[in-house]
Amino acid sequence: MELETLYALRSPVGLPSHPIVFLVLLVLTWALHILAVYVMLGSTALALCGSVLAGGHWRRLSAAMLETAKVAVSIAIVLGVAPLLFVQVIYDPFWYVSNVLSARWAIGFIGLLLAAYWLLYYRYFRNGRETASHLTLATVLGLFLLCGFIMHGLSSEMLRPELWMRWYAPGGHIDPSGSALHDYNPWRFLYFVGLMVPVTGAWLVGYRGYLERCGERDTAYLDWVTALGKRCMSAGGLFSLLIYVSWMSTLPASAGGFAASAGSLIAVVATLALAAGPLVCRAGSGYYRPMLAAGVAILLIAASREALRLKILGGGFGYDILTYPVHFDTYSTLLFFITFAVLGGSTVAFSIALSWEAGKAQGIYTASPRIARLGNASLVALAVWLAQYFLFGFLTMIG
Ligand code: HEM
Repeated sequence: MELETLYALRSPVGLPSHPIVFLVLLVLTWALHILAVYVMLGSTALALCGSVLAGGHWRRLSAAMLETAKVAVSIAIVLGVAPLLFVQVIYDPFWYVSNVLSARWAIGFIGLLLAAYWLLYYRYFRNGRETASHLTLATVLGLFLLCGFIMHGLSSEMLRPELWMRWYAPGGHIDPSGSALHDYNPWRFLYFVGLMVPVTGAWLVGYRGYLERCGERDTAYLDWVTALGKRCMSAGGLFSLLIYVSWMSTLPASAGGFAASAGSLIAVVATLALAAGPLVCRAGSGYYRPMLAAGVAILLIAASREALRLKILGGGFGYDILTYPVHFDTYSTLLFFITFAVLGGSTVAFSIALSWEAGKAQGIYTASPRIARLGNASLVALAVWLAQYFLFGFLTMIG
């Protein structure tokens, strides 16, 4: 694919702010998205294991993880939207091509995710009464993984401009069906999905800390959960490192030397840090430390993932995102940051704080005045946002 063609595919409107701003936001929001994805996948997998093993501590963990999964899926979806916007803004020539080449998968993704979401809730509301529970949970997990695989396929296709024409017109005959996922790398997929094991391990240790603060007396259960979490961190982290090395050995020529670069070293160190999570674990509030460390490690892995993309598109094809024309738009830039901080911040803080507090309550939960105020504040923020949206649209129309 000619470099001029790639540049011609850019939006003629340009960017409303500097490309670096979008790049940083892409890395940051993708890290948040994938953290929620890991907790969602890990808790669903543990709920499934618990329902299969059924006895003792597993039964209790399974029920708790089902609760976690149903919150995590919503957060993963909401937090997926932000990187989706940024990837479309700065990598539009690549992202749109991959989405058109695999249009049926890109659209089917929504249906598959909806099916998984509804099935998870179905399983949740039938908890304890259903006989085919393993099958339902296994289907949910399978659908989640398929959704992740579609995202992986789209992310992989965008990095292979040299193959686009072959996929679009195999043997010279145009195939506009969008029915194939043309590119994938099992090692890359396994690495990005397998990181759920150490992250979920860190989550489990945090869950122990949380239960302890709620006054949990069953120390046998608490110790069992902690031991399981630590095992997942160390074994999962080391396993992920092996997968990473395999992935690096299969990079296309366009990635020229990335495997031995500083960007790759960051991912290696971060993956090792995930395996070393048990070392930072301490009693009391120290049980939350592995999860904080995991958050930092995933952020570094997100940065390394981006460095690889920049290397392939820049080194391999000469594409420079910094040359994207900028038509600075103060209103839209301010609106974005205010929306992100005030509307996004208050609504996400509300749902997390609500779940946190509700989890500690015995019997029927009534929101504390602080949580109720936070809920009202996020509703007001939403109403103000909607009002400015329509007002601005109206003023543009008459202006
Ligand atoms: C349940 C489902 C989901 C799973 C398991 C999942 C998993 C993943 C994985 C593994 C990747 C990395 C792929 C790679 O780099 O090879 C990824 C990337 C991404 N996901 Fe998700 N995801 C899910 C849902 C969503 C949703 C609902 C959205 C949007 C609303 C979303 C938006 C994205 C975006 C924008 C990227 C990055 C694309 C890029 O930077 O190239 N994901 N996801």
